[in-house]
Amino acid sequence: MSHDQEHRWPILSQRADRVLNGPAPGAWMPGSSPNAINLVSGYPYADAVPVEALVAAARALAQDEGDRPFQYLGSARQSFLREWLARAMGPELGAEDQLLVTFGALQGLDLAAQAALDRDTAVLVQSPTYMEALEVFRNYTDHIVPVAECDGVFPMGAVEEALEGAARRGTPVRLIYWGADFQNPTGLVTPESDRRELVSLAARHGAWLVEDAAYRDLFFGEPLPSLKALDSAQHVVYLGTLSKTVAPGLRIGWAVGPKRLLTAMDRMKKDLGNPFVEAVVGEYLQAIDYESHVRELRQAYAQRAEEAVKALGAPAQGVEVPKPRGGYFLWVRLRETWDSDHVAAFLAQEGIMALSGRWFCVETEPDPHAIRLSFSYQPLDQLIDGFSAAGRALRAFAEAHP
Ligand SMILES: Cc1ncc(COP(=O)(O)O)c(C=O)c1O
Repeated sequence: MSHDQEHRWPILSQRADRVLNGPAPGAWMPGSSPNAINLVSGYPYADAVPVEALVAAARALAQDEGDRPFQYLGSARQSFLREWLARAMGPELGAEDQLLVTFGALQGLDLAAQAALDRDTAVLVQSPTYMEALEVFRNYTDHIVPVAECDGVFPMGAVEEALEGAARRGTPVRLIYWGADFQNPTGLVTPESDRRELVSLAARHGAWLVEDAAYRDLFFGEPLPSLKALDSAQHVVYLGTLSKTVAPGLRIGWAVGPKRLLTAMDRMKKDLGNPFVEAVVGEYLQAIDYESHVRELRQAYAQRAEEAVKALGAPAQGVEVPKPRGGYFLWVRLRETWDSDHVAAFLAQEGIMALSGRWFCVETEPDPHAIRLSFSYQPLDQLIDGFSAAGRALRAFAEAHP
């Protein structure tokens, strides 16, 4: 029996009912067998997490301030974090903008969705897109409008058509969610001319443009200007995070954008933050040279990406492995006749945890015929073993499905 059909007392909100009838968050995470190699998780590898430096920062804080960081009001070092983030944003933090510290980029996305969406308004997403963003949007609207990738780009013509179509249907797009840098899952980089076009489309159609910059610092070549840097009409909200360059368990992210929207997000957030962690991270960032830290990470992830591609080899005719330009993931494009879920399940039998491309698409979209493999998390030797095994499994799959 679906939740809808149950008559329970007291009654839940319509929104809660919708959430309970939808898929559970994290349903995409495959079960793991004891010796499986995890190529699913987008986590930093163990040595990339600065455990000692974070512990030293927490100790320094407690020694200097005693109970203060543990009180509601928190430590003066929380302002270190805000100052550091403002400096890191540079001129992208405009005079008209506001900065909000969040529980990771995901809370920034959740608050932006709360502040921008009603049930009868739509969110436009790249397809495929980050599966957890879909989970967030499903909490607020039934109207998720996908713009499909076509030959390595998300065509601006299709974005415009989607915006016009949604307005015609009476469910206008109020929020565009976009990964411009090493988009999760495809790894694609939005070309500069498309960035300009996208910013102007958002302004023309009265939509907020949420730029998810989770991987922006992890470029292997030259960075392009952010959407925020190109925003002259005050429509872009930039979401940053320390999850990929410091540690995801800290849950430290930030949102930068126009005051009106950010003030609404701030009020919705209330004081649901973590003053202690913000102060520890503020202290940590003051103590380290972040630029050289992140430069080393770029080199390490570029090397991992290269090793992963090499170990995977040429899996089979019709299977493409685009070389990542940054970020954490390899998006392996399968033959059009192969089902993504089927391939992921086959890899699981061979001891490789991979994510089916289907998780990154709304239900009405066709199978993208792809799997996502992470090169971020495993120790390097197991990473190489895992990608070699994935290559062998794909070749075996090709033989079984000529
Ligand atoms: C595209 C993208 N956005 C946001 C996040 C989540 O970031 P945070 O840990 O800061 O909430 C991730 C993490 O996997 C991601 O891949």
